[in-house]
Amino acid sequence: MKQEKDPEFVKFTGIEKRFGKVLAVKRMDLEIPEGSLVTLLGPSGCGKTTLLRMLAGLESPTRGDIYIKGRRMNDTPIHKRNLGMIFQNYALFPHKTIFDNVAFGLKYRNISKSVIKDKVEKALETVRLPGVGERMPSQLSGGQQQRIALARAIVIEPDVLLMDEPLSALDENLREDMRREIDNLQQALGVTTIFVTHDQREALSMSDKVVVMKDGFIQQEGTPEEVYNNSINHFVADFLGHSNFINSVVKEKTGDFLSVTLEDDHTFFAVPAGVLNTGDKAEIVIRAQKFKLGYRTDHVPEEGMNVFFGKIVDRSYMGGEVSYFIELDNKLVLHAINFVKRSPYRRGDEVFMKVAPEHCRLLKL
Ligand SMILES: Nc1ncnc2c1ncn2[C@@H]1O[C@H](COP(=O)(O)OP(=O)(O)OP(=O)(O)O)[C@@H](O)[C@H]1O
Ligand SMILES: [Mg+2]
Repeated sequence: MKQEKDPEFVKFTGIEKRFGKVLAVKRMDLEIPEGSLVTLLGPSGCGKTTLLRMLAGLESPTRGDIYIKGRRMNDTPIHKRNLGMIFQNYALFPHKTIFDNVAFGLKYRNISKSVIKDKVEKALETVRLPGVGERMPSQLSGGQQQRIALARAIVIEPDVLLMDEPLSALDENLREDMRREIDNLQQALGVTTIFVTHDQREALSMSDKVVVMKDGFIQQEGTPEEVYNNSINHFVADFLGHSNFINSVVKEKTGDFLSVTLEDDHTFFAVPAGVLNTGDKAEIVIRAQKFKLGYRTDHVPEEGMNVFFGKIVDRSYMGGEVSYFIELDNKLVLHAINFVKRSPYRRGDEVFMKVAPEHCRLLKL
């Protein structure tokens, strides 16, 4: 029978870390389910590395507790926590062979040489670099070296795999490949993984759960879809993707939506993201991808559809998509992103931009 997965495989309760005057992590509670890949996402300095280092035992918490598999870890030394780690700057030992690099974590485990050999070979096969054991790190490419670091982390069959921005030193294409590789490998091994990044695309594409952090606090946690589609505040909506924010005042409930008044008295329909009452100030959040553009002269009014009119002031081609900045008649500038084949518009063109109310979310101000 399949064992139930532990929803609190890793658990932080009231965890806090102070460095002198800086509170790097503030009273944080977080649970990491067994077998999942959870990313910690947030801007530089928000406490991601500090949280990971506390879990690893490289830093001790100022207060709060850390549990792995239900056991309190606060006083457990680093080598007894059974964690695999890959850090951005954690290079391979340059003077050791690949074999010795990968075997490193097994040395102190009382395992026979022949078993070590088998395990190392298997780990190298897992990262698709079989047979490189005799080489030196300098004889491998950057991406290959990062795969060896991965082999070294998984060879010990860790309870938890910790990765702190492991892809940031790689170029864009290689990053994409490695991202997919880590994702596949994590699923194949089923190892509980905490992945730190400040790259939202990385976080959204590979996680079971995304934890968005700012200033040592968790802002929101949830599936990639939840945090992207139902961002609970300005910071999260702004950090994930390209969002427009428009100030408004709540007027009344109209069918499934709320109608609001914009600063130019324009009426707009949107979905409330929380409890909102008539007269409340709220900001409308609209993803740049949700606008449909057309030439102003072609516009036909549609019942219940939100629409703006303006002029294109900036256009940038981004490969598959085109990014536009549009100055509205009321001088507000909005950002729209459309697929290339729906984007014949040029700088200076007069356009309308329409967006259905279900793509407009209202956050209380
Ligand atoms: N050893 C330390 N001594 C003093 N302050 C520290 C120390 N380590 C981290 N900090 C501070 O704690 C805060 C959180 O740092 P942390 O390295 O955890 O951020 P991060 O989210 O990993 O950022 P980045 O994305 O830049 O890696 C920062 O303000 C940082 O300056
Ligand atoms: Mg960091």
